[in-house]
Amino acid sequence: MASQKTLLYLGLFLFAEIITAADPNSKAENVRWTSLDFKTMLTWTSKTPQQTYTVKFSRPEGDWYEARNCLGTASECDLSAELKPFNEFYTADILTDNEDHDSDYGHDEFQHTESTPFNPYRDSNISAVEFSVRALSSSTVRLNIIDTLTSVHEGSKQLTIRDIFTKDLKYKIIYTKSGNTGKRENISDSSRAEVTKLDAATSYCFMVAAYIPSRPTSTQLGAWSRQLCEKTHEESSSMHELSMGALVAVIFVLLTVFIIIVTVTALCCKKRQQTEKSLQTTQSQTSAPV
Ligand SMILES: *[C@@H]1O[C@H](CO)[C@@H](O)[C@H](O)[C@H]1NC(C)=O
Ligand SMILES: *[C@@H]1O[C@H](CO)[C@@H](O)[C@H](O)[C@H]1NC(C)=O
Repeated sequence: MASQKTLLYLGLFLFAEIITAADPNSKAENVRWTSLDFKTMLTWTSKTPQQTYTVKFSRPEGDWYEARNCLGTASECDLSAELKPFNEFYTADILTDNEDHDSDYGHDEFQHTESTPFNPYRDSNISAVEFSVRALSSSTVRLNIIDTLTSVHEGSKQLTIRDIFTKDLKYKIIYTKSGNTGKRENISDSSRAEVTKLDAATSYCFMVAAYIPSRPTSTQLGAWSRQLCEKTHEESSSMHELSMGALVAVIFVLLTVFIIIVTVTALCCKKRQQTEKSLQTTQSQTSAPV
């Protein structure tokens, strides 16, 4: 009986603690958007750890929707799946929950903090891409760039940055001659890029970044990839080898034909000489004694 009473008091005490800790004036602070490859998070800080918030978001002139993944006392929420279409400016509003939540307070009656507008299509950072490089000739190298996967799913398909940006996505390629500081760059519309006008039998090092020129300057360029190096082929080596091979073949054929002709001629002459000789001897034999 006594222990039950203690438990009850303890419970009441804890409840009172929570109520007082949940300062109704505890607004969300330092509200920020972070976004990488279209994984978009809203984060904020709170003076009272127990405080719960409700997050709403809207497009300009649009309705306010309650974010589904932003419940409880967490001070962040994942809005990746909800900020669609991508190319719109979204504003989030973080409402401080209070005890009278169920009463008829209007939207303005809650303590709340609004975020700055955020547009995933323009503002989401793009991480470094992976690519491979292969020399095609003495002057050309091909880069195969892998379009980075985003956090966005459409049905069972995970979208790449190419699926989202389509024609707006380019790749910026910078390359240097090995051991040389001079940087050159080229921009490729496709994920399969060719760099031309290179020197033969020379090693070049390449780096690639996603590049979206339709965006504002500060967010046009994704992170730079790691560097990969590749050596171009020898000076028109393939042509050289081909002609050398052909020359050898021609000489071989000519030589063979020549030998055959010489041999055949020699054999023929020998035979003719023999026949002539034997003819002469028979003639002289028949004509001698009469
Ligand atoms: C993108 O990256 C830059 C540099 O790291 C950072 O300052 C910025 O806050 C990031 N933007 C988003 C939306 O995450
Ligand atoms: C630059 O890229 C374009 C498109 O891929 C290509 O046609 C052109 O040859 C490249 N130029 C150089 C100097 O690599």
